[in-house]
Amino acid sequence: MSAPDLSITLAGIRMKNPVMVASGTFGYGPEYADLVDLSQLGAMVVKGISTEPWQGNQTPRTVEVASGLINAIGLQNPGAEGFLQTYLPFLRNYDVPVIVNIWGRTVEEYAAVAARLSAAEGIAALELNVSCPNIKEGSKSFGSNADMFRRVIAATRAVTKLPLIPKLAPDVFRIAEFARLAEAEGADALAIANSVPAMAIDIETRRPKLANITGGLSGPAIRPIAVRLVWEAAKAVQIPIIGMGGIYTAADAVEFFIAGASAVAVGTANFLEPATPLTVAAGLRDYLARHQLGSVRELVGTLAC
Ligand code: SIN
Repeated sequence: MSAPDLSITLAGIRMKNPVMVASGTFGYGPEYADLVDLSQLGAMVVKGISTEPWQGNQTPRTVEVASGLINAIGLQNPGAEGFLQTYLPFLRNYDVPVIVNIWGRTVEEYAAVAARLSAAEGIAALELNVSCPNIKEGSKSFGSNADMFRRVIAATRAVTKLPLIPKLAPDVFRIAEFARLAEAEGADALAIANSVPAMAIDIETRRPKLANITGGLSGPAIRPIAVRLVWEAAKAVQIPIIGMGGIYTAADAVEFFIAGASAVAVGTANFLEPATPLTVAAGLRDYLARHQLGSVRELVGTLAC
């Protein structure tokens, strides 16, 4: 049997392999380009972009905990013009689809940033961040309220032809309902899921370890939660799902594919070993060969129960 084919087409985007990087864990490209060949990634998903530059939260903004990391960066970013002038030209040097995570404080801001980015060449898709737990207005409030969720997808859908990929919150009561709403409003794929709201306390000072008090937990601790969310959403919709949450190894990624994901994203592991997406892709190829599967598509949604 010839070597398994790792290539996929997701929401019309051709990828060499189904292992992407999760927004916020790989910067905008230059930060990692000396460490990893960006052209080998399935897709490069950049940190959330808003209409204007944004400072994010006060420090400390990250804390390591058992089995993961809690962050409260607060969506710091250079704004749409900063991204288009400084980072997109750099990313165009690589043969990798560029997916831009976007966010806003209002429906109008989501639509404005989507429209501005859609006018540029070289962006493969927009990931709608409706699930960041770390800012007071916007983002998470859109992903936790069905009506606002629907409105933000409809408003961005109206201004762009780029594939739209809402990134869902992990702590909604029924993920299947949000998945169905997104599909009905014209989403092309779903990213499941963002970090899980969490906090850590310094017991000597009795102060929170993050200036924002709460943050989002990522890493191995949340993987079983994310696998379950992908499984529930995959049963509810036809559009493809990008699964993420604590993927460190190929075995972790395989769980997501079996649960119903068509692609995966590596996040927190990139902070420990930036080449993790490449080793996950190589290990996935070995798994497929060992199980005599010709492509990753043959693995998607094959849970036996
Ligand atoms: C952050 O910048 O606070 C994290 C981004 C996210 O959770 O979407």
